[in-house]
Amino acid sequence: MFSLPLRDDARLAPLEIWHAEEFAVHMARAREHIRPWVGASFVTDDLDGARATLARYAERQAADGARLYGIWLSGELVGGVMFTDFSVAAGACEVGCWLEPAAEGRGLVTRACDALLDWAFTTRGLHRAEWHCRADNERSAAVAKRLGMTLEGVRREAWPYEGVRYDKQVWAVLAPERAAAV
Ligand SMILES: CC(C)(COP(=O)(O)OP(=O)(O)OC[C@H]1O[C@@H](n2cnc3c(N)ncnc32)[C@H](O)[C@@H]1OP(=O)(O)O)[C@@H](O)C(=O)NCCC(=O)NCCS
Repeated sequence: MFSLPLRDDARLAPLEIWHAEEFAVHMARAREHIRPWVGASFVTDDLDGARATLARYAERQAADGARLYGIWLSGELVGGVMFTDFSVAAGACEVGCWLEPAAEGRGLVTRACDALLDWAFTTRGLHRAEWHCRADNERSAAVAKRLGMTLEGVRREAWPYEGVRYDKQVWAVLAPERAAAV
């Protein structure tokens, strides 16, 4: 299987249905850390749930839509990045990410998202990439900033979580901005 070297003995590669057991084990380490900050359907409790996530992404990838990639650090699945949305017709995509706690603070997600943006803009010719996060998710907003994204606006109380509605930030970078930055 192909993979892209990141840093610190880390690599980025497609995360597919055959990884379901490994993904479920990783999710057990990541679950409570990511739960407040990612879509509820991504936080699963068992092997069936992990497999359902991977199947959902595989189906969408088959239609040239969403895609999912894992990050392996020293051979262990520690997180990943994804196109939560990807539309050639609209010329736009949305990128997302997650890590288990032990893999934070190494620049892995920024490097991995850079690779996704390169592919979306250069290989696929998209014009716009978005990043959505809870407005109080400082680590996520910091990634968007490192990727050269601009905070375009706030969708007020658009993120319900455990009975509270949080604001959601929408960040984005356009193809010409990205080209000028690299
Ligand atoms: C959002 C999340 C993936 C960010 O993880 P992260 O480790 O901060 O992001 P990166 O992998 O890009 O690493 C950046 C960190 O590594 C450090 N770093 C070390 N070497 C680096 C390098 N070569 N390049 C860039 N950053 C580097 C940076 O200083 C930064 O650490 P700091 O914030 O303490 O200064 C993580 O906090 C997470 O999984 N949170 C829960 C789920 C979540 O919020 N997902 C996003 C939903 S919108």
